[in-house]
Amino acid sequence: MKVELKCISCGAVFPPSMVIYTCLKCGSLLDVVLKLDELQGIVSWNVFRARRFNVWRYRELLPVFDDSKIVSLDEGGTPLVKCDRLAKWAGVRSLYIKFEGANPTGSFKDRGMTVGVTKALEYGARAVACASTGNTAASMAAYAARAGLKAIIILPWGKVALGKLAQAVMHGAEVVGIEGNFDQALAIVRSLSEKHGIYLLNSVNPWRLEGQKTVAYEIIDQLGEIPDFIALPMGNCGNISALWKGLRELLELSLIDHTPRLIGVQATGASPVVDMFKSGSNIFKPVENPETVATAIRIGNPVNWPKAIRALRESNGLAEKVTDEEIIEAQQMIACLEGLGVEPASAASVAGLKKLVEEGALDADSVVVCICTGHLLKDPEQAVRVSRQPLKVKAELDEVERALSYIVSTAQAALLPSS
Ligand code: F0G
Repeated sequence: MKVELKCISCGAVFPPSMVIYTCLKCGSLLDVVLKLDELQGIVSWNVFRARRFNVWRYRELLPVFDDSKIVSLDEGGTPLVKCDRLAKWAGVRSLYIKFEGANPTGSFKDRGMTVGVTKALEYGARAVACASTGNTAASMAAYAARAGLKAIIILPWGKVALGKLAQAVMHGAEVVGIEGNFDQALAIVRSLSEKHGIYLLNSVNPWRLEGQKTVAYEIIDQLGEIPDFIALPMGNCGNISALWKGLRELLELSLIDHTPRLIGVQATGASPVVDMFKSGSNIFKPVENPETVATAIRIGNPVNWPKAIRALRESNGLAEKVTDEEIIEAQQMIACLEGLGVEPASAASVAGLKKLVEEGALDADSVVVCICTGHLLKDPEQAVRVSRQPLKVKAELDEVERALSYIVSTAQAALLPSS
């Protein structure tokens, strides 16, 4: 497969053998460009569907050169769940959740890491590193363990959900917490990686996005039609960049005849991309002290903002910001109406959708897919904090009955014989 790295700003081109993350000429972001004309007529939905449903179903579109080095945990192939009750709540005709919590480490990051860690092996790296709000750390730690690589992780101390931290340490990563936020951690790890020749696996690494783009392929593959909208949360903005790249590739390969519109959602305390997009400005203003209950997207200076703005503009997309209260309410609705457990950042996509419908920015007759990026169990402390607390009583039947008096009488009415 012919592949090159191309600067999104100045157009400079570099060979895939170079270990670079940004343009050597102007410092801007790089795209991995695949020569898709060679694949015309070779790939088709039928070819893909004859294979196992995971990220590697779309092998021809994944720029890995040495199959023997592929590091996989059978990632991808996640459920696309039709959510009729939630659709009613959000105010749209048809709503699906792409449940990325079903990935091996519980988030969409695994799609990127299977390719990113494979690249690390292809380049001959001995160690990999990332800054993280938690999920990238958990995923990188797992894939590095499987590949036999050392993993170095820089985190914002005290701001990473417990489940994610548990994964990172259990998989044997070296974890350093800084007294600062994600944006500072990312700046540090970029210098660390450059100085010490450690392979960087944040989403500034364009190879990682090649794995993440498979979520676009899967949504179309599963739905069998093109949704009107795909909504997702934005943090460092790698995922929306990857999603849009995947959709553009499907279009180029004539596997779809038009693209869905994208909806990017951020939390009100960390919304630089939404603010820039809505204002129509070309000037990006980072948020100094980002804050939100959705710690996964507590990011004020997302590295991929130019790709995110490009995705939103090219797809004729929408952007919205949501409060912590709106995020938590959406999280509870997804959990209670549909039985799907997602972490707060993931619920932002649904909260944003509901808000856009209320504002009249989105036609209620639409078919919408919301990508729910991470599992509820990632942040168990937050889930317990916002939910009804369990009751503690003596170990006696009448005590338990008293505690459950309301619910027990309702259940009786439903199941006991009426005589
Ligand atoms: N949802 C979840 C659950 C996430 O963990 C992240 C990012 C996002 C959404 C946003 O994705 O950054 O590609 O725009 N988490 C990163 C991390 C930053 O370190 O785990 P994005």
